Amino acid sequence: MTAAPTDRPALWRATVLTLFPEMFPGPLGISLAGRALASDLWALDARDIRASATDRHRSVDDTPAGGRPGMVLRADILAAAIDAAAVAPDRPRLLMSPRGRPLTQSRVVELARGPGPLIVCGRFEGVDQRVIDARGLEEVSIGDYVLSGGEIAAIALIDACVRLLPGVMGKEASGAEESFSEGLLEYPQYTRPQLFEGVPIPEILTSGDHAKVAAWRRAQAEALTWARRPDLWTARPGQKAPKSTTDG
Ligand code: ADE
Repeated sequence: MTAAPTDRPALWRATVLTLFPEMFPGPLGISLAGRALASDLWALDARDIRASATDRHRSVDDTPAGGRPGMVLRADILAAAIDAAAVAPDRPRLLMSPRGRPLTQSRVVELARGPGPLIVCGRFEGVDQRVIDARGLEEVSIGDYVLSGGEIAAIALIDACVRLLPGVMGKEASGAEESFSEGLLEYPQYTRPQLFEGVPIPEILTSGDHAKVAAWRRAQAEALTWARRPDLWTARPGQKAPKSTTDG
């Protein structure tokens, strides 16, 4: 029998393969993502890779072929763990790795629009290349530094996606996304008190002139991006230096 047609989209789901399932939901069980999880706006399965181990010691890793210290996650064990998760073929299969393509907001938006990824968390010195190739894993990095494993990177990626899911965030906040997707860093924010340690809120922000406020914010965003992220600045089409600059 086929399911009755429904307007409700399928639940966005993150399936995480890890040696440390107790690290989940972790921070994803708190605040915005945690409330959304409790309200069934998304779902999380954390699966233990070690459950696919076959020997008495439940070992999942071995020494790298060719020598060097450290341990490598075995292709057969990880492939069995991926296969056991039986995720639908349309779901992206990611491997968190410092060697991956850097995660961007536009990739986050894509992932949030889809059915939700399978995410493999690497540990040890790496993962046998054959399973990366055989299961078509897309390697994703969250920055040019090395974490002790992929779990914290997976949590960061999932958090970035979940806040974009329908119903998770208020309307005001989704506007902020647009400004980042324009490739600019966010302008500085202020709130009460009016005077903090002798420093007032910039006058323009309390002027009530919305056009001037918007222009000021835009100029600040441009100046910050120019100073701190020349890579983002030059990626924007036809960019010259901003009208004003600021310190990094
Ligand atoms: N695992 C270890 N370091 C990582 C990083 N920078 N990004 C993603 N996964 C990782």
